[in-house]
Amino acid sequence: MSNLIETREGLVRLLLTPQALKPLAERKPKPCVFYNPEASLNRDVAVLAVRVFSRRKGGDLRVCDPLAGCGVRSIRFLVEGVGVKEAVINDLNPNAVEFIRVNLEANGLSEKAMVFNLDARELLLRRDIRQDGFDLVDVDPFGSPAPFIQPALLSLKRGGVLAVTSTDTASLSGRYPRTCLRRYWSKPLKTEYYPEVAVRILLGFIARNCTMLNRGLKPLFSHRTTQYIRVYIETIRGTIAADKTLDKIGYLNHCFNCLYRRFTVLGEEIASSCPNCGSRLELAGPLWIGEIFDVEFCNQMVAEYENSHLTDDRELGRLIETIASESSGDVTYYIIDELASFLKVSPPSKNAVLEKLREMGYNASPTHFNGKGFRTNAPLKEILNGLSDITRSLKPTL
Ligand SMILES: C[S@@+](CC[C@H](N)C(=O)[O-])C[C@H]1O[C@@H](n2cnc3c(N)ncnc32)[C@H](O)[C@@H]1O
Ligand SMILES: [Zn+2]
Repeated sequence: MSNLIETREGLVRLLLTPQALKPLAERKPKPCVFYNPEASLNRDVAVLAVRVFSRRKGGDLRVCDPLAGCGVRSIRFLVEGVGVKEAVINDLNPNAVEFIRVNLEANGLSEKAMVFNLDARELLLRRDIRQDGFDLVDVDPFGSPAPFIQPALLSLKRGGVLAVTSTDTASLSGRYPRTCLRRYWSKPLKTEYYPEVAVRILLGFIARNCTMLNRGLKPLFSHRTTQYIRVYIETIRGTIAADKTLDKIGYLNHCFNCLYRRFTVLGEEIASSCPNCGSRLELAGPLWIGEIFDVEFCNQMVAEYENSHLTDDRELGRLIETIASESSGDVTYYIIDELASFLKVSPPSKNAVLEKLREMGYNASPTHFNGKGFRTNAPLKEILNGLSDITRSLKPTL
């Protein structure tokens, strides 16, 4: 290969074609290998998650990157992941596989990786490749990850972790409901907290695949950007875990008239009218109705960030810290602008709302899902009372 340009991400060197390094919108014709520098935040978070998981497991991890592009993700896991013993790296595109080899060589890692040129599903199902199972599989495709979920679950070791990116946020968020039904067997809903609904639909889909295989799941970490959503789940073997997981699958009921929302468990009778205002309740699901973060894992991510080579990256720090602060918060979040428009008042600041709710004796935290969003255990009526109080106190007296 000639005419390659060197770039760096995290602690690794990457050799790529000039075309692959152009901004995404200017890449015509399409480069022969895929690299998206804008997804480096996604990989930074993944590096931290691998480090946390590795410390929990005592190292010696075997990780799998079945849709690897130029291999940057797993090369970073090998260099920055702490305790990653071996990576299985694969791509269906033969050109990508050449770049994976070049970049492994450029980082002196050829001995620590097995490289394949297979369909990801075949790779994950091959016993001679997965051996006694992977500790972590990172599914990072173009668009929907749905076709890769079951093979990825089958390839995991007992207690293994599955990380999944989904870039088909338009279908998961309710813009294309029919596509969401087709891919995830779930009805989306365009509420003001639609990114969280998208995460819950993806987790619900993974959960149903788990129960089918007599496995359960525990979400460890979830996040979103405007381009994608991302989840990390721990798998647990056995029917007891599978049954517990089944209890965390259900429906979301949302009232567009008064902003009321609630979850119902699968099998429970679903109310059709809002208990608050009597309007029609809309439905989304089936989806995941349990926690979408594990508090301990999120706090360990913060500690890992603070002690890692990534600690100067403030965007990453803000993301991880906000997620840790919302991880113990209540399910679903509210958007200040929506509440203010419902009350027909001008929106107060987020800090004023958080302070007010805490003063009223409730928990309240910001959410990384939306800069104007917050989570609280206060009932809707109390939230509205709090907001009215703030705006009244801000009004000039005549
Ligand atoms: C979004 S890119 C991967 C980016 C990479 N994970 C990273 O972090 O830079 C998706 C990759 O999946 C590959 N791909 C598409 N379908 C595949 C399949 N069925 N099996 C394996 N690889 C596939 C594409 O060639 C492409 O390189
Ligand atoms: Zn209502």
